[in-house]
Amino acid sequence: MSFAEKLINWYQVNGRVLPWRDTSDPYVIWLSEIILQQTRVEQGMPYFYRFLEEFPIVTKFAAADQELILRLWQGLGYYSRARNMQKAAKMVIEEFGGVFPRKYEQVIRLPGVGEYTAAAISSFSSNEFRAVVDGNVYRVLSRYFGISEPINTSSGKKLFAHLAHEMLDQHHPGTYNQAIMDFGAIQCKPKNPDCGQCIFRLECAAYNHGQINVLPVKLKGRASRNRYFHYFIIADQKGLLMVQRGNKDVWASLYEFPMYESEKNLNIDELRDTLSTLRYFGENVNLISIGGQVKHILSHQNIYAHFYFVDGIASIADKKSVGNYYLWEKLDKLAKHKLIFSFLEKNKQLISTKL
Ligand code: ADE
Repeated sequence: MSFAEKLINWYQVNGRVLPWRDTSDPYVIWLSEIILQQTRVEQGMPYFYRFLEEFPIVTKFAAADQELILRLWQGLGYYSRARNMQKAAKMVIEEFGGVFPRKYEQVIRLPGVGEYTAAAISSFSSNEFRAVVDGNVYRVLSRYFGISEPINTSSGKKLFAHLAHEMLDQHHPGTYNQAIMDFGAIQCKPKNPDCGQCIFRLECAAYNHGQINVLPVKLKGRASRNRYFHYFIIADQKGLLMVQRGNKDVWASLYEFPMYESEKNLNIDELRDTLSTLRYFGENVNLISIGGQVKHILSHQNIYAHFYFVDGIASIADKKSVGNYYLWEKLDKLAKHKLIFSFLEKNKQLISTKL
């Protein structure tokens, strides 16, 4: 018996009974798959029923009040998923005449639908020959074949996508896809799988070579670190102080306001104390917060920025230790990073009233 046949036989006996498996309606399958992205089955189930009751057909979903969709979505997180769902429903009305598509090439054009979801919808609704590749599939295939190529590199993803396609059952791709996901969830679990009872114990490479606990391999992403930047607008009517960043850090060589970076978040009083200890500005200087905290996400860094207008500096020409003086009309010529130009766009008027 082939891998696919064994898997499907296992599924007929052991597969979970789930409400979105009784149907070939691509709209219902889409609802379930979007809800189940980054959500466990038990957690997603009540949401699935609630959405289906409120919006039994796609035209109802498309016409719904966005507020209602977001309210029903509450607790699932990633609200862009809910917004994309309504965009997708509207696209079904406008581009597909209100008939939810089944073909992979059409489904994948819908907002919020990626390769996995398109393969799931097309194979479950119309048996299109498309292999799903999710975490379960990576685990089952990497163990069965003993593949230690990391699953989260582009070459690893390609390799597993190719293999998943090769293994897919010719006649029952939809059932095979459900089966391999359930097999991964129930039998070939991430931790302590009961390999002694497994239908693939004789041929599974990982089991036979003691690699169950090391496969699949996933490269660790670096954890993001938080950084706290305090920017100072030190300006007079003619110009302001700017600093060019160094080369060894983010936004290499771009211009920004003079700044102080702290290890932790500081409120304005803590910041004042710290700066005064450091004798950063000298005496009689007042900080005026502008615009609140701005979070800027970079790969592996979350930057929390706060902007302060520095009031009471007698003459800024002698503040060379803090930054270089530029005329306002020259400011456009300096290459600034996004935090700075967004801030300037929003607040230039306000700053001019303070000078
Ligand atoms: N998780 C995502 N899609 C699923 C499905 N169709 N069945 C079970 N779990 C899932």
